[in-house]
Amino acid sequence: MNHPTTATLTPPGPTPWELLKKLPAIRSNATGYLMEAAQQWGDVVFFDVPRNPALFINSPDTIKHILQDQHRLYNKNTMQYNLLSGITGKGLLTADGEDWLRHRRLQQPAFARPRLMSMDQIATPAMERMLNRWEQAADSGEPLNIDNEMMRLALEIVGKALLSIDLSDQASRLVEAVVTVLDGIVHKAQNPGPLSGLMLTPGSMRFRSALSTLELTIYDMIAARRESGDPGDDLLGMLLRARDEQGNPMSDKQIRDEVMTILVAGHETVASALTWTWMLLAQNPGEAQKLEDESGAVLNGRIPTTADLAAMPHAARVFSEALRLYPPAWLITRKSTAEDQIGPYRVPAGALIIMSPYTLQRRADLWPEPEKFMPDRFAAFADGQPPRFTYIPFGAGPRLCIGREFAMIEAQLVLGAVAGRFRLSLLPDRPVHMEPLVTLRPRGGLWMKVEKR
Ligand code: HEM
Repeated sequence: MNHPTTATLTPPGPTPWELLKKLPAIRSNATGYLMEAAQQWGDVVFFDVPRNPALFINSPDTIKHILQDQHRLYNKNTMQYNLLSGITGKGLLTADGEDWLRHRRLQQPAFARPRLMSMDQIATPAMERMLNRWEQAADSGEPLNIDNEMMRLALEIVGKALLSIDLSDQASRLVEAVVTVLDGIVHKAQNPGPLSGLMLTPGSMRFRSALSTLELTIYDMIAARRESGDPGDDLLGMLLRARDEQGNPMSDKQIRDEVMTILVAGHETVASALTWTWMLLAQNPGEAQKLEDESGAVLNGRIPTTADLAAMPHAARVFSEALRLYPPAWLITRKSTAEDQIGPYRVPAGALIIMSPYTLQRRADLWPEPEKFMPDRFAAFADGQPPRFTYIPFGAGPRLCIGREFAMIEAQLVLGAVAGRFRLSLLPDRPVHMEPLVTLRPRGGLWMKVEKR
């Protein structure tokens, strides 16, 4: 597609030599480097990487340009998504063009609000199992890896809500497999090269074994559903019933890709966001108290249902604010398919576009006192929604996260249920370090002490 441009200017940015010198810093603290680059060079920064020019953009207008106004000029043919597709294949998250649109339309009904409102029937037993385990931990004083607890819970909920499978027995094993495959692609990103995928190292063997654990689970699930003779009306049923223009059904491999996408994209993100929320609440006891007060008043010790959500606006604000400070999807990338322009700047065809909810959502001109955890700032926005494109934890434009509402409902349920019964505190001998991998994660997990309220 040709898109005539008049811009000739190259955005400011470090020289190739300066960039090279910064490589160790970029590797050890990528979010910190991006914050620094935005500070030094402004809203559009050019990274002059030989043969792979990249633009880092960090303002609401420029992000709107890429993700919404000119989204057709930009696709997901980037290293981030190509590596992810090593796990999810051409599922909804990584597909482009017509394939993406068809699959998005097909899956959208599974995320309709009335369906999501029955999520409590699934979330409640899963939360009860978790909270019972926590009772024991509270009695014994044993710390818990809250990151792992949130991952198990979120995997159980997404598996049951969208695919009607009970993963409660296998949740730990599958969570481990998902973490291993995600770590595996970060390793590949850090060690690029034509041979890196072919060499048999302990890491690559772990990656393959974890991926096949996940694949076997998914293929079993597809086979069991086909054998049952009833496709069902959940997301898996929608995929099984789908036909293309020629009347052909989706192959098992295509269904595997979509299911893998949902399992991976649909639990690790929510779990990380909840994990960061617990850390922030522990660091801000006044905010923890407000959430506990809301849960106490609305629930009185019960586990919430979706009917309670309207009475728990503070839980939604707490989660939104945690997503501002620690957006799990901290990096969103695109590739320009043709020449374009952003303001006075030329965007060459084939350029990598880097956007970061993390840096955007910590801009002091958009978010006063950006480093502070202040859930009430969301109370000032109509419908709790900040001005568009100042807040993009779920992306924006046509590729906005399909699971946004799912995640918000799930998080409110979990926050309400836990805050109604427990208070979580950090362990002084276990400092928390943020690691920007595929998602933003606490290195080594988040160990916390749980106390009954
Ligand atoms: C707090 C939780 C979540 C966060 C922070 C998050 C974040 C995101 C972001 C930033 C994107 C857009 C990526 C881009 O434009 O390049 C996205 C897309 C997507 N997310 Fe989420 N997500 C969350 C929860 C979920 C859940 C619960 C599901 C499914 C159950 C899900 C499934 C997907 C899928 C399938 C896409 C691709 C959509 C498309 O391109 O049409 N996500 N997510």
